[in-house]
This record gives sequence, C-alpha cells and structure tokens, in this order.
Amino acid sequence: MSDATLLGVCYYPEHWAEEQWADDARRMRELGLSRVRIGEFAWARIEPAPGLLDWTWLDRAIGTLAGAGLKIILGTPTATPPRWLLDEMPDMLAVDAEGKPRQFGSRRHYCFSHAGYRAQCRRIVGAMAGHFGRHPAVVAWQVDNEYGCHDTVLSYSEAARQAFRQWLAKRYGHIQALNEAWGNVFWSMDYADFEQVDLPNLTVTEANPAHRLDFQRFSSDQVVAFNREQVEILRELSPGRTITHNFMGFFTDFDHHAVAADLDVASWDSYPLGFLEQADFPGSDKLRYARQGHPDIAAFHHDLYRGCGRGRWWVMEQQPGPVNWARNNPAPLPGMVRLWTIEAHAHGAELVSYFRWRQLPFAQEQMHAGLLRPDSVEDLAAGEVRQVAGELQRLGAAGPAPAPVALLFGYASEWMTRITPHGERQRALRACFEWYSALRRLGLDVDILAPESDLSKYRMVVVPCLPWLSEQVAEALAGLEAPVLIGPRAGSKTREFSIPPALAPGPLQRYLQIKVVRVESLRPGWSASGPGFAIQDWLEHLETDLIPELCLDDGHGVLYRQGNLRYLSAGPDERLLGGVLQSLAAEAGLDPILLPQDLRVRRAGDLCFAFNYGPSALSLAGLGLMNSPANGHFLIGSVDLPPAGLGVWRQQKA
Ligand code: GAL
Repeated sequence: MSDATLLGVCYYPEHWAEEQWADDARRMRELGLSRVRIGEFAWARIEPAPGLLDWTWLDRAIGTLAGAGLKIILGTPTATPPRWLLDEMPDMLAVDAEGKPRQFGSRRHYCFSHAGYRAQCRRIVGAMAGHFGRHPAVVAWQVDNEYGCHDTVLSYSEAARQAFRQWLAKRYGHIQALNEAWGNVFWSMDYADFEQVDLPNLTVTEANPAHRLDFQRFSSDQVVAFNREQVEILRELSPGRTITHNFMGFFTDFDHHAVAADLDVASWDSYPLGFLEQADFPGSDKLRYARQGHPDIAAFHHDLYRGCGRGRWWVMEQQPGPVNWARNNPAPLPGMVRLWTIEAHAHGAELVSYFRWRQLPFAQEQMHAGLLRPDSVEDLAAGEVRQVAGELQRLGAAGPAPAPVALLFGYASEWMTRITPHGERQRALRACFEWYSALRRLGLDVDILAPESDLSKYRMVVVPCLPWLSEQVAEALAGLEAPVLIGPRAGSKTREFSIPPALAPGPLQRYLQIKVVRVESLRPGWSASGPGFAIQDWLEHLETDLIPELCLDDGHGVLYRQGNLRYLSAGPDERLLGGVLQSLAAEAGLDPILLPQDLRVRRAGDLCFAFNYGPSALSLAGLGLMNSPANGHFLIGSVDLPPAGLGVWRQQKA
C-alpha cells in the first residue's frame, strides 16, 4: 500500500434539496473527507419511466461534489429496480423458501436468475457508464449494493428453477451421474431427466444435502455471473476506474473469493455494534462490548476481505452512531468511530467511508445516525472523523503488513457445515472466528485466505474447519515447513458431499496417519477434561498408531502430530485452543504473549497499534509486547489507554 488511508462518506443527493449540496460538499471537505459514494439506490430518479433517462440532476450533483474537490465512487443502481420495471416483468421477483414472492416496497426485490432483469441491468449500467464513465471525478464504481442483504441470494423462483436445471445438466452431463453423485437411490429419489429436478425447498423433511449444496453453489455462481456482467461493461466504458462491491459481515451465502476475483478491490460494510447484537455471541460479550463491538469483529472482516481483495480492500460503510436494524441499537462509546477507523488503517484499508452523511428524517432508515443530525448539526462522530483525518495524515501510509499466520477459510466448507451441522454450535465460520480470536489474543497478526492460496511465506498455518479440502490443498499443507494446526472435520466430505471412501480426514490421510471412525456432537454444557483444559461440542474417535500429544483424563487422544501437521480431534475450550496455538506460535518463533481480554494489537510497516475495546483503562506497560512501547516513540496516545483509546508507536529496531 503506497498511500495513506483515505476517508469518505455515503451520500444521497436525491434525498436533499439541491440548494444544500454545495454546503454539504464544502463541509465534507472541511471534515477531511476526499471520497463520496453516491447513486447506488437512484434508479427511479435516473430513469423515472421506461427509457426516459434523466442525467441532469446527477450531472449537477457530481459537478457540485467534484467542484469542492471530492472524488466520486458511483454505485450502479441495480439493488433497487423501479416499480415500472416490476410492472413490465412481474416474474423478476425473488421467491422465498416458502414460495412467497419478495414484493416491491423496500429493496433487493430481484432474482439473480431472471434473464430479463439481467438484461435490464446491463442496459442501465451501460447507459450510466456511457454517460459518467470518463468523468474525471469518477474514480471508482461500486457494483450493486450488498449482494445477499436481507437474505436474497437463494431464490426459489421459476427462473431459478429453470436456470438450476441447466446448471446441473452442464455440471453432470447425464442425469445418471447426478443420481450417483447425490446418492438418489436413498429414499427412491432418482430422476430420469434434469427437467424433473426441483429446487430443494418445501420437501416433507430435509432435502438431500447434496441437492442443497449444489443449489447453494448454483446460487453463488449466479451472483458471480451477475456481478461479472456489470464489471465487464464498466471496464469497457469506464477504463482505469477502480471497481468494487461492498460485502457484508458474517455473511457467507455466496463465494466471496469468486466474486472478488472479478473486482479490483474488495470492500465491506462495518457495523460492529449491529453485528455483535445480531450474531450469536454469549450474552456476557454482548453486554461487555455493547458500545465497542467485540474486539475481533471488525478485524476479522478486515483480514478476510483483504484476502478476498488480494491485498486491496476498503471499508465502504462505517457505522458512525446507532444503527436502526439490530435488535437493540446502542451508541458507540465516544472515541470508537476514531478507533475503528485507525484499526482499519492498521489492517491496510485504502479507504474508510462512513455511512451516512446526514441522518434522514423519513423512510426506513430514519433512526440510523449519520455524521450530521437531521437538522444538519454535526453529530458526535463528525468530531471524531475530523480528529482521525488529522491523525491519518500524520501516520501517512501504513506500509506493508505481512502477517505471519495464515488462517484458511473456504465457502464450500462453510455451506457444508450449515447444511449438515451435526451439532447445534457447528459452523465453519464460527470455528474460524474463534480460532482467529484466540490468535489475536496472542498478539498475532493473521491473514484469512482461501484454501488454495500460496502459503509459502507464512510461519504458521491454521485450518479451523475445512470439511472439504482437495488433494492439492492437503499436499500443499504437508509440504510446508511451517507448523500447521488442523481442526476437527477436515477432509470429512467429498466435493459432492458424501463421506470419503477412506473416511476422514480424506486426502490428508496420505500425510497424517489417522482415520476418524466415529464423530459425536456434544450438548452445550457437556464437556470432558484433560490436564488444564476441556473439550466441548465435538469429539472424534480415531484409529491411528500415532501417540497423541494431548489426552483427556480418560486417555482419549485429542491432539496428534505427524511432521509439520497437527490434528485436533475435538472441539477445544479456550484454554486448549489458546494453549495449542501458543505452543505452535512459539515453535514458529513468533513470540506469542497472552494479551488482556480487551486489548488487541496490530503491526503495519514499522508501526505498532494497540486498541482498547474494554470498558476500563488499560496499560501497555509490562505486557511484554515486542519492543516495549514504554521505550518507543508514541505517534498517537501513550502506554495508558482509556476506554476506546488507542496507541501507535514506532517499533524499535531489534
Ligand atoms: C447497509 C446498506 C446501506 C444501509 C446500511 C444501514 O447494509 O448497504 O444501504 O442500509 O446498511 O446500516
């Protein structure tokens, strides 16, 4: 990364009187913002009637914003098709799993498989890119908005049914191949023709997991294709501009690695308080971090999407105050908007853009804070943005941030654990988050990567939950010198979602002589102990000649090692996971230290960042942090971090 992190804001000129635009633009610049994202929901104002394109207001809005020195990120408006379009093609709506159409009156009311809607999207994006594509102030495009928001990836429409059949025919060639791959002999589910295959909803009991997995893959491919069509048009008509899409938090309904492969930059929308409230965290965490967000939520996604974007990523929407959409919507602790911004910088963000400029007094999001109140007075976050803009200037470019630890995450594995969790807490994403959190408690910087990534530069690799992994991934892991920790369920399924002939861990058995002969999921609250630790949720029974490195008190082995590979055959509690990761990190020469619960650190270039997510003050003194900051030179803050406080210091040369 060569430049300092830029700041921006999401703005909707169509929501405000034109007389306000110039003043808004001036105030944005005065706050230190240089980017403004506009347009992504404006289709009905761009094209109020079929074919009647009205660019005049958007021309003036862009002119005003650009005139103040702002650069524009222009959204394609395809997340909000206008009412007249629906009237022209009523079957463009997505249909939910109960068979009900997702009606007009909010947003994202389209089915990715509807060919007519896809053609309309190509048309409007072509027209927009034709008109604005070479405008000097338009520096980037955001394609659509948050694919999948409001549960919109899977659609059970007629268009989806037809497209799924074609997708299956292409994938399997012959219906008999599909019957075999899915195991349709079970319960007499054989088909004679692809035309007989329906979508996997409304079945009496669960649909065949292989059927569901293929429908998930198909639906993900539809998102990839939908996105690619727009990207291709933008590349042709708006050369040299950065193309991105804004992904979401804890959202896995499509393969983000595949969508991001067509983008220049991966961006994501960071709402730490909303995510904590909505996601499945213990009640104690929800209370402790209600105004800060869990210390790993934002960072986890920064590191995930940096991986998706092959190093290039933005925060497209940053929470500035209370949101409107979580069960409860607290305000961030004063200082958190600044902290989240600097933390994104420390993880290598090229841009942090706040959602939104001014709180809107009408419609669905009227209770969502902005940088300004509805009466245009600055809200609390604005002051923090002004401060952080100055601080980012002082910090300059973050410099390269090579993380020593790679954590592998694959969307196909996540889908498998979602379709057949086998136990109520079993999700690949959850395991990844917990392992990530444990690594960060040890003060380690982490890259979250697709399983097929090049791992040669990493000093330690962890594989929390990959039920499906290819021969190549197994070979690559075994070929590393770095220690590798592999979690339960690895290699337990074939690509087609059945148990591999030689049993789990599938292709890893060539390098790790273990065979998983039985698995059990354990009721939450049930655990078994070993010396200084316990296991929970999951337990595997193995056949192996290897001597376990760790056992439960009853002698049941839970950690095995062969060469650089270690295999954990049970769901670890915090002590077991933390302990094993700590000893692996020490083996890898990474100097792990156990940080206080609320503190997180991150290195970038020669800078070290520390963030206090807790409710009380923390001191960095005596923690044994590398190049003790007490002796270093603080660019921001000091050894004492108040709540929502942060410190940045230059690491001393060893
Ligand atoms: C995002 C979305 C925005 C806005 C925001 C509110 O999910 O992209 O358009 O709705 O949430 O927090």
